[in-house]
Amino acid sequence: MTIIVTGGAGFIGSNFIFHMLSKHPTYRIVCLDKLTYAGNLSTLAPVMDSPHFRFVKADICDREAVDRLFEEEHPDIVVNFAAESHVDRSIEDPGIFLRTNILGTQVLMDACRQYGIGRYHQVSTDEVYGDLPLDRPDLFFTEETPIHTSSPYSASKAGADLLVLAYHRTYGLPVTISRCSNNYGPYHFPEKLIPLMIANCLNNKPLPVYGKGENVRDWLYVEDHCKAIDLIIHNGRVGEVYNIGGHNEMRNIDIVKLICHELGKPESLITYVTDRKGHDMRYAIDPTKIHRELGWLPETKFADGIQKTIAWYRNNREWWETILSGEYQNYYEKMYGNR
Ligand code: NAD
Ligand code: DAU
Repeated sequence: MTIIVTGGAGFIGSNFIFHMLSKHPTYRIVCLDKLTYAGNLSTLAPVMDSPHFRFVKADICDREAVDRLFEEEHPDIVVNFAAESHVDRSIEDPGIFLRTNILGTQVLMDACRQYGIGRYHQVSTDEVYGDLPLDRPDLFFTEETPIHTSSPYSASKAGADLLVLAYHRTYGLPVTISRCSNNYGPYHFPEKLIPLMIANCLNNKPLPVYGKGENVRDWLYVEDHCKAIDLIIHNGRVGEVYNIGGHNEMRNIDIVKLICHELGKPESLITYVTDRKGHDMRYAIDPTKIHRELGWLPETKFADGIQKTIAWYRNNREWWETILSGEYQNYYEKMYGNR
């Protein structure tokens, strides 16, 4: 079994590669990644010498490079994690989101059609459903919830999802899609809420909370997401969408206070800043379908997962300090300088 994992040098993709190599030791895992600002080859160092692993630096939009890889590897499965993934960046510069997230998906699926594939799996997001009101805790996203996007990021992910379903219906491509809620865990790029707050806390820097911090996200430990995708690519029904989430809704401000508390830092570090444009209020996944059909349930409780995550950032300072010392400084100044 050969699996091409795109975007495997990023947060979830790298965790997925570690999971697959340990759970399926006979599989061959080929990572295709462009190594954008969010991709980090050092993350994959522990598996780089494995005879079951290969890394290829390439852009999913590069048809020639993608075709060459398919010719060389004859993959059985493609799992597409490669994407521009940060909502704030999509508000600043939507173009690259449309290119990578939509056109890149097309290039991958065209190669799947041309060379044949057992399964194409698209890693999507709950953000394609838009948001839910705070005063309706009875509402959840199901797979039937209409697509209703808010940001250029979520619109690009929704565009890709529609294209994936179109390739299934029109060409019979054997596809599946997963739509997961917010992940957290090791190797999470420090531009996202949880790792940014941990890094800033550890450096005694202000903690920039957007708006009033009342927005709600449904947090899932990254390993649980990886296990869900593993189940879907093996046992999921072709042509189907599966929501993934753990019924773990939390307000941003409560997460930030918890991180302060765990790290013994004062809440006075919290700074309320100008809200994100078009900021989604609440995400909440109904994971009934994947539980009923595939027996998936989240295994890591938030109280344990956040402690493991904080411990990882404490013990792996070099990983995120290297990121913070580079181009990230310009990004941070641009995003937070006058906020
Ligand atoms: P990330 O930003 O940490 O990693 C993205 C990876 O894709 C990087 O390694 C980057 O180098 C690579 N990449 C970007 N453009 C590429 C291109 N054109 N060609 C090849 N590689 C390219 O992202 P993440 O948080 O790990 O998210 C992975 C996927 O999961 C994305 O599709 C995202 O939409 C989805 N998702 C993320 C979350 C979350 O909470 N992080 C939740 C649900 C779904
Ligand atoms: O729901 C899944 C999505 O989760 C994924 O599809 C995206 O790729 C991923 O980035 C994430 O999107 P969010 O926008 O929810 O994540 P982010 O970490 O950027 O923000 C989480 C919440 O925290 C959101 O309400 C905005 C807020 N926030 C974020 C940052 C970076 C702050 O208050 N301050 C900040 O500095």
